[in-house]
Amino acid sequence: MIALDPAIEAEAERLLRSLMHVECDPRGRKWNLDTCREIAPLTLEINRLKREKNAVILTHSYVEPEIVYGVGDFKGDSYYLSLMARESAADIILFAGVVFMAETAKILSPGATVIVPDRGSGCSLADSITGEDVRRLKQLHPEAAVVCYINSTAEVKAECDVCVTSGNVYDIVAQLPEQKILFVPDRLMADNVRDELKRRGVRKEIISSDGTCIVHEEFEVAQITQARAQFPGLKVVSHPECTPEVAAASDFVGSTGAMMKYVKETTAPYFLMLTECGLVGRLEVENAAKHFIGGCRLCPYMKLNSLEKIRDALRAPRPEQLVTLDENLRQRAARCIERMFELTPKAG
Ligand code: 13P
Ligand code: SF4
Repeated sequence: MIALDPAIEAEAERLLRSLMHVECDPRGRKWNLDTCREIAPLTLEINRLKREKNAVILTHSYVEPEIVYGVGDFKGDSYYLSLMARESAADIILFAGVVFMAETAKILSPGATVIVPDRGSGCSLADSITGEDVRRLKQLHPEAAVVCYINSTAEVKAECDVCVTSGNVYDIVAQLPEQKILFVPDRLMADNVRDELKRRGVRKEIISSDGTCIVHEEFEVAQITQARAQFPGLKVVSHPECTPEVAAASDFVGSTGAMMKYVKETTAPYFLMLTECGLVGRLEVENAAKHFIGGCRLCPYMKLNSLEKIRDALRAPRPEQLVTLDENLRQRAARCIERMFELTPKAG
């Protein structure tokens, strides 16, 4: 009989306590003690490297569950993770998410070494527009307030007046003194802002660029209608990157953080989550008694993160894994994000 390593056994048991609840696994894995034993040496090494190097790992809820629960220090949505980056005293911030999130961490925590496990982890929204495009749009609409969704590059943020996230977009746009808003890069979110402000009786003219999220644009109302017929009492929860038709047919629309809060506080027999699969995995772990049905889609960019890449980047980052920004550009992008913090309503 092979002798079991007690450190690996203890780590595998720790991992299993969370991962055993994940049914919506992006790679169809069934988590049990054996699969947790396989990854335990990696999570042990990553957590040791973090301690030795004074590093923290920020994990967006869309990355694979073994990253979120195995090595993540902070897990959440873009707004929460930006705040954690800004408050961090760590020497190294490793961002398990996508590149624009890591850039945001570098903008807010310039003294830290910021690392991305995979430089290819872009985002269809962030990659849809350049700083030069924004400069051209500003010339066409000089009187507009320029608002960028956080899913944008540092170069784009540097051109904008204020940044928003899916959690504060309606409240911030509603507060702006300008009547005309140039909103980049998410066309569908701009549509949702237009609808929500109309509901609130706030008059704004909203012009947008043409980006979309390749994950959220795919959800359809027919899917909601079918699910409601099949599962009476179902609650439908969607993200503001979905189409306005899907948003209108949902019971709740919000950021991934707000979606988690809604599910936690809502009693319903079933939930249909119209968002990326990773969030469903988190909900399964953190609301083990609730039931989530279909609709799951993968973000290919988020799924480029892996424990192996995180370990290698922490051991010795390759140049392309390091996030660096021109200081003047960083300061201009920081002003745009700091204005967001000023305008975000304080919780409670
Ligand atoms: P959240 O800030 O709501 O987590 O959204 C990030 C994102 O990329 C959604 O697709
Ligand atoms: Fe970008 Fe969509 Fe992926 Fe979010 S889910 S990172 S918006 S491509």
